[in-house]
Amino acid sequence: MPNFTKRHIVELLKETNPENIAELYRQADRVRQEQVGPTVHLRGLIEFSSFCRKDCLYCGLRRSNGRLQRYRMSLEEIFAAAENARLLGFKTVVLQSGEDSHYSLDDFCSLVARIKKELRVAVTLCIGERTREEYARLKEAGADRYLIRFETSDPDLFARMKPDSTYENRFRCLQDLRELGYQVGSGNLVGLPGQSLESLADDILKFRELELDMVGLGPFICNPDTPLYGFANSTLDMVLRMTALTRIVTENAHIPATTATGTLDETGRQQALSCGANVIMPNLTPPEYRKLYQLYPDKICLNEDPGQCKTCVTGMIAGLGRTVALDRGDSLRI
Ligand code: SAM
Ligand code: SF4
Ligand code: FES
Repeated sequence: MPNFTKRHIVELLKETNPENIAELYRQADRVRQEQVGPTVHLRGLIEFSSFCRKDCLYCGLRRSNGRLQRYRMSLEEIFAAAENARLLGFKTVVLQSGEDSHYSLDDFCSLVARIKKELRVAVTLCIGERTREEYARLKEAGADRYLIRFETSDPDLFARMKPDSTYENRFRCLQDLRELGYQVGSGNLVGLPGQSLESLADDILKFRELELDMVGLGPFICNPDTPLYGFANSTLDMVLRMTALTRIVTENAHIPATTATGTLDETGRQQALSCGANVIMPNLTPPEYRKLYQLYPDKICLNEDPGQCKTCVTGMIAGLGRTVALDRGDSLRI
C-alpha cells in the first residue's frame, strides 16, 4: 500500500508543473490497470424520490428549497425501473433518494427482496442516515451495498454544511454498515466553500483508513437555490487530482466517474476513467422525473432515456479502448 503522507498529498494537490500532473495521472492509470483491470462496471442509478427531511447547504433537494417541484416514485414504479435496468443488461441497481420518511421500512424491505428475487441484480442503497436496526433489516431483505459519503473529514466544515446531521452519526452509519456485512461506499464533495487542501488530503487518508469498497468523489456544483448561491464550482482539475490520488492510495476501491464530473465538463467522465476511475453510474431514472432531481443545475442526461444513456456510456468506454465488465463488480476487498 503506497505510503503517501498528508504532506505528500497536499503537495500533489498544489502541484503546478503540467508534466508532474500528467505523471500523477499516468501512475493512477497504471494502478487502476494492475488492481482492478481494464473493464468498467456499470451501475444503473434510479433516483426515486426528491423529498428530503434534511437541509444540507449545498443540495437542491434540501427541505428549505421551496422552488423544487418534488416527486416520489411508487414502489411499483421503482420496481419497473429496476426491471428495465435488468433488461438493459445492468447487474447492479442503485436506489437513491433524499431522506424521505414516506416509505415504511416494511414496504421498502419488501421492494428490495422482490428486486433480489425476481431480477437477481446487486442492490445498492443510497438513502442517507438510518438507524442500525433499519440498516440490519434492509440487509436481511437482500441489500448488498450502501453508499453514504461523509462529504468532508473536517468536522467544522461538516457542521456548517450539514446543520441537521452530526459528524459522529455519519461515521457511526459507516461503521454499522461495515459491521452488518454491506459492501460500503463513501466519498466526499470536492471544492466546498471553505474547504482546505489539507482537509482534502485528510479525506483521502480517511478513505484508506475506512477500507472502503467504493469511493465517490463529487465536484461541488453551486446550486443557486441554496444558501451557497454565488460560490464557485469545483474545478475539473481538482476532481481529477483527487481521483488519481484516491486510486493510488486506496488501490483497489471501485471509483466512479461521477455524473457531476460529466456536468462540469463534457469529457469529464472520460478523463476521470483515464486517471483512476473504473465505474460509471448511468441515470436510469424514468425521463419524466429526471429534471426534478435537481441537486445542482445543468445536470447531464435530462433529455435522454435509460437506453440512450446505456448506449452513450458503452460508446464512451469503447472510445477509451476499454470494455464493459460482465460480472457484478463486487468489492475487490473480499
Ligand atoms: N440523501 C442521501 C445522502 O445525502 O447521503 C443520498 C442522496 S444525496 C442527493 C447524494 C449525494 O449528492 C450527496 O452525498 C452529495 O455529495 C451529492 N450532492 C448534493 N448536492 C450536490 C451539489 N450541489 N454538487 C455536487 N454534488 C452534490
Ligand atoms: Fe437531503 Fe442528501 Fe441532499 Fe442532504 S445531500 S439535502 S440528505 S438529499
Ligand atoms: Fe446519459 Fe451520456 S450517459 S446521455
